[in-house]
Amino acid sequence: MATQDNLPIMVSRIGIIGAGVSGLAVVKQLSHYNPIVFEATDSIGGVWRHCSSKCTKLQSPTCNYEFSDFPWPERESSEHPSYVEILEYLRAYAVYFDLFKYVMFNYKVVEIKFVRDKEGFDFGCLPPDHGNPLPGRMVWELFVQTNESYVIQRYHFEFIVVCTGKYGDIPLMPKFPYNKGPEVFKGKALHTIEYCKLDNESTTDLVKGKKVVVIGFKKSATDIAMECAQENQGPEGKPCTMIVRRLHWILPHFWIWGVPFFMFYSTRSAQFLHQTPNQGLLKTLVRFLLSPMRRVISKFIESYLLWKLPLEKYGLKPDHSFEEDYASCQVAVLPKSFYNEADKGKIIFKRASKWWFWSNGIEFDDNTKMDKLKTLLPEPFSSLLEYPSGIMPLYRGTIYPSIPNMAFVGYVESVSNLYTSEIRSMWLAGLIDNKFKLPSAEKMLLQTMKDMEAMKKSTKFYKKNCITTFSINHNDEICEDLGWHTWRKKNLIKEVFTPYTAVDYKKED
Ligand SMILES: Cc1cc2nc3c(=O)[nH]c(=O)nc-3n(C[C@H](O)[C@H](O)[C@H](O)COP(=O)(O)OP(=O)(O)OC[C@H]3O[C@@H](n4cnc5c(N)ncnc54)[C@H](O)[C@@H]3O)c2cc1C
Ligand SMILES: NC(=O)c1ccc[n+]([C@@H]2O[C@H](COP(=O)([O-])OP(=O)(O)OC[C@H]3O[C@@H](n4cnc5c(N)ncnc54)[C@H](OP(=O)(O)O)[C@@H]3O)[C@@H](O)[C@H]2O)c1
Repeated sequence: MATQDNLPIMVSRIGIIGAGVSGLAVVKQLSHYNPIVFEATDSIGGVWRHCSSKCTKLQSPTCNYEFSDFPWPERESSEHPSYVEILEYLRAYAVYFDLFKYVMFNYKVVEIKFVRDKEGFDFGCLPPDHGNPLPGRMVWELFVQTNESYVIQRYHFEFIVVCTGKYGDIPLMPKFPYNKGPEVFKGKALHTIEYCKLDNESTTDLVKGKKVVVIGFKKSATDIAMECAQENQGPEGKPCTMIVRRLHWILPHFWIWGVPFFMFYSTRSAQFLHQTPNQGLLKTLVRFLLSPMRRVISKFIESYLLWKLPLEKYGLKPDHSFEEDYASCQVAVLPKSFYNEADKGKIIFKRASKWWFWSNGIEFDDNTKMDKLKTLLPEPFSSLLEYPSGIMPLYRGTIYPSIPNMAFVGYVESVSNLYTSEIRSMWLAGLIDNKFKLPSAEKMLLQTMKDMEAMKKSTKFYKKNCITTFSINHNDEICEDLGWHTWRKKNLIKEVFTPYTAVDYKKED
């Protein structure tokens, strides 16, 4: 690759990387700065465009997966939109707010370089408040490759926002000992991402009448197993085997014994039962006294799932509580009629903690083997931005305390990742507009440590920046920084007992 000899281009003060849901939310909130969005592919939508298979639908209810100022056309419908409808919704949003003009498609950022400044700061000596987000001189140099050419273009910015997503286009395959990896397997092994790239005809060819194994037992795995089962109906069809390492509670839908699921975790009163990062001694004590209530709620949900789904029949009842899965952002929603396919024998479950390849199939740590295997579909999607401890410490879910003039949007997960990104974009716009200042790097780090501590205490499966059990508290802090009201409902009863959704965080001017 050649670097362009021309001088670096400075066409805007703010650069945004990625035009998925998070990039769109950010560009809308920062549009008054005429930012540039670099998008590596030829379209907006990110995972909805590139990581969706035939039956991919929105898992979250639509009232949770929408921009606060752009409601879904049929938001009361109980049907979850397909990925095609989600892409259409995102396109309509971009058209309505005239966002396409900021996006440079097929522009992939391949390197980001911090530009030192003699008079300015260096990484080691940040000004206490991170300085001005827009200091009036370049801070970052971006190296960008376009599809059409191998020449690298250089762009300069004062501030950049990274919105490259957690589930990207690089398949993360499990690691295997020598001679036990996919290279020895004579069948075909594909990662979910590669499977999603196939068209309908090719997926049918891949799985129809073939002995298929799907690795994993969460959202992608259950969706893909369902697609395999549907392609293998009738006596000629072969069953699809799911390799289940750890069991998880999976919801059939968002109703539990007739009560909307979000009453259990998304209201202020429900979240009061859970640990929050900045709670004082009194709240800690009250929460401790109320903690049996959390177990009751979890058991109530588990009782419904055990009644509704044949978990015991198939040996799929997890040993841990539902709350452990929920607090670690691991709860998935089953495709419709999933267990009907299991009852018909079209989906089979195999528990295994370890497995590896041999020429004709895979072998398990209980000394059993599967042979004559034709196709294997391993999980999961890759996480592109890895941090050594697994979790990036982000202040307000956005700023890495020791990196100046850079923000990250889309790395905190909650019940709905759309408004989680949108509210952080509003916060970011407030910061860049100088509506408030950042605290010192030390204070930010201390706060991120408290956030991580609260996450750790809420689940033994802590491995993500997951705020499901204290999202309202997190959003309260953002509202406080922005000078907004924190209690956002019309009256006290609603404030305490109704779930918070995206529209509650509509921008206050
Ligand atoms: C199949 C699937 C279904 C999901 N369903 C739900 C759901 O129902 N509810 C929910 O809340 N969450 C869901 N999620 C989580 C989902 O990741 C978020 O909801 C959200 O769509 C993520 O958006 P994002 O913009 O942060 O990231 P992405 O959608 O990953 O977008 C990142 C964008 O950045 C671009 N990019 C990456 N690297 C570069 C680079 N170097 N240069 C330029 N551009 C780059 C990519 O091309 C992409 O367009 C789902 C995830 C997957 C994979
Ligand atoms: N809306 C939708 O329709 C939809 C569709 C797909 C994905 N998504 C979202 O996309 C994100 C990623 O979901 P995902 O299901 O692709 O990935 P995931 O949640 O990370 O799940 C990965 C699965 O693969 C298993 N696994 C990984 N490596 C394994 C190994 N070496 N051996 C055995 N099992 C292994 C995991 O088991 P362990 O549990 O034991 O680790 C887990 O069951 C989630 O946020 C999800 O909600 C949404």
